[in-house]
Amino acid sequence: MRNLKNKSEKRRFKKTSSSFDELKRLKKELRESEDRFRMLVEQSPENIVTHDLEGKILFISASGVEMIGAKTSEEVIGRNAMEFVHPDDHEKVKNITMEAIKEFENGVDCKKVIEHRFIRLDGTEFYGEATGIPFLYKGEPAIQVITRDITKRKEAEDALNRVNDKLENMVNERTEKLSKAIELLKKEISERKHAEKEKERIQTQLLQAQKMEIIGRFASGIAHDFNNITTIIKSFSALALAETSKGRSFDLIKEYLGYINATAERSANLTRQLLISAQKQPTNFRNLKLNNIVDDMTKTLRHVLAENITVRTVLEPGLWDIFADKGNIEQILMNLVINASDAMEQGGGMIYIKTKNMVVDEDCTDIPGVKSGKFVCLTFEDSGAGMEAEVVERLFEPFFSTKDSGKGIGLGLAVVNNIVKEHKGAITVSSEPERGSIFKVYLPATTETALFENIDDLAGEPSGRGERILLVEDEKFLRKSLTLMLSKNNYTVFDAENATEAVETFEKHGGEFDLLFTDVVLPDISGIHLTRKLLARNPDLKVVFTSGYLNIESQWSFIKDGGYAFLQKPYDPLDLLTAINETLLK
Ligand SMILES: Nc1ncnc2c1ncn2[C@@H]1O[C@H](COP(=O)(O)OP(=O)(O)OP(=O)(O)O)[C@@H](O)[C@H]1O
Ligand SMILES: [Mg+2]
Repeated sequence: MRNLKNKSEKRRFKKTSSSFDELKRLKKELRESEDRFRMLVEQSPENIVTHDLEGKILFISASGVEMIGAKTSEEVIGRNAMEFVHPDDHEKVKNITMEAIKEFENGVDCKKVIEHRFIRLDGTEFYGEATGIPFLYKGEPAIQVITRDITKRKEAEDALNRVNDKLENMVNERTEKLSKAIELLKKEISERKHAEKEKERIQTQLLQAQKMEIIGRFASGIAHDFNNITTIIKSFSALALAETSKGRSFDLIKEYLGYINATAERSANLTRQLLISAQKQPTNFRNLKLNNIVDDMTKTLRHVLAENITVRTVLEPGLWDIFADKGNIEQILMNLVINASDAMEQGGGMIYIKTKNMVVDEDCTDIPGVKSGKFVCLTFEDSGAGMEAEVVERLFEPFFSTKDSGKGIGLGLAVVNNIVKEHKGAITVSSEPERGSIFKVYLPATTETALFENIDDLAGEPSGRGERILLVEDEKFLRKSLTLMLSKNNYTVFDAENATEAVETFEKHGGEFDLLFTDVVLPDISGIHLTRKLLARNPDLKVVFTSGYLNIESQWSFIKDGGYAFLQKPYDPLDLLTAINETLLK
C-alpha cells in the first residue's frame, strides 16, 4: 500500500478502496448467482435448449441431452436445432419461430407453444411439446426452448383416434350394410306389392268368371222354372177353355183354375225369392197369427206337391203372435216344404208342420243366436232322404245345391236364413241320411195381440161403399183386372196408365177422390211424385202404393215414414181389398 499524504487524501483513499471492495463483492455475488442459475438450468428436469436465431444450439440442459439421446452436451452444442426436428415439421417450426422473433423485436410478449415430432441422434422419433421464448443470451437475441416428451399422450391419442376411426369405419360399414338392406327390403316390398296386385287382379278375374258361371246357372234355373210355370198355366187354361166351349163340367173348370192359381203362387214365390236375395224386397212388419198363415199356405201348397206327399199340421192352440212380414213367413214355409218334398222318393212321404210356444231361458245353448225370452217354434219334419254331414254344413250357403241344374239353384235356404235373421230368430237342422230331416225355426213372440185375425178371419171380402178410387197402373191387363175387381166390390174406379193421365183425370173431377192406388214405378214420373202433387190439391186423399220392386231407397222411406199401405206385387186380390178397406177406414 502506497503512503497517504494527508487526511483528505487518506479519506478519499479509504472511500475508493471501499467502492472497489463493494464491486468485487457484487461480482462475486453475480457469479455465484450465475453458477446457481446455470446449475439450476443444467440440473433442471425440464429439457432446455438455447439456440441463436439461425438455430445454432448454444446451450442444452442435462435432461435435454438425455432426451435427444446424446451422452454429453458437447455432442449437441454447435449443431443446428432443426437437425432434431422431423423434416415433415420443419416448415411449421420455422414459421412459428419467425413469428416469435418478430413479436420479440416489436416488444410483444411472444411465448409460443407447438407440438411436433423430434428425431433423436440414433434416428428414433418422439413427440414433444415445445415452448419457445425469445430472449437475450449473452447480449445477443436467442431462443430458449423447453420441451416436454408427450409421446405417451400422443400414443394414447393415436390409439383413441385409431379406435375412433375403427368405430367410425364400423359405423360406416354398418350404415352401408343397413342402407343396402333397406334398399333390398324396399325392392322386396315393391315386388310383393306388385305380386299382390297381380294376385288381386287374377282373383277378380276368377271371381268374375265364377260370377258369370253363377249367373249362368241362376238364369237357366229361373228360365226352367218359369217355362214350367208358363206351361202349366197354358195347359190348364187351355183345358178350362175347352171345358167352357163344351159347356160341361163346372167342377173341372174350378179345379183347373185352382191349379192355375197355385202355379201363379209358385211364380210369385220365385220372384219373391229373387227379390229377397237381391235385398230389394221391402218388408212390412205386423203382428201376425202364425197358425193361420200355416193353414193358408198348406192349402196353397197342396196344389204344388205330388199327390203321394201328405202334409200334416200340428198347431198349438193359443199360439203367441209374432211380429213379422207375412210374405217372408210364407216364403219360409214354401221353401222348407218344397225342400222336404224334393227329398222324397217316388213313393212320396210325410211332412209335419208343427207350431209351439217356447220359453227360452238364459242357459239354453242348444239354439245358437237365440237370447232368452218367449219364442214361437215352427217345426218341419220330413220322411225324406236326409242329408250327409257335409251337406248340412253348407246348407245355408247361397247357390249351394245338390239338385240338377233346373231343379234348384241353391237359394231357398239362404233366403230362409236371411229372413230368420231379419226377424231376430234362429234356425236349427238335424238330419241323417235315410232318416229324414228336421228344421226348426224360432221366431220371437210379441206381447201385443194381432189387430186382425189375419185376412181369412174377416167376414167375407171387405167391400166398398161407392168410394172413388183413382187407379194408376201402366200394365194394361193388370189395370183391367184391377178395375174389374174393385168395381165388383162396390168401388167407383177411374183408371189412368201414367201420372200425366192421372193428373188430368184428377183435375177433370175437381180432385174429388177418396183414394189413390198407384204403382210406384210409372213411365213418366214416379208414383211418389204424383202423390205429392195430388196431396197438395187434396190433403184428405188416402193413398195405397204398389210395386214389383223398389230400387230407390228414398221411395221406400217416403212410404214407410208416411205410414202408407204398400202392396208388394204379386199380391192376392184379397190383400188388395183389405189394404184399400183398411186405408179408407183410417
Ligand atoms: N229337407 C231336406 N232334405 C234333404 N236335403 C235337403 C233338405 N232341405 C235342403 N236340403 C239340401 O240342401 C240343399 C240346399 O237347399 P236350398 O233350398 O238352399 O237349395 P235348393 O233346394 O237346392 O235350390 P232352390 O231352393 O234355390 O230351388 C239342397 O240342394 C239339398 O241338397
Ligand atoms: Mg230349396
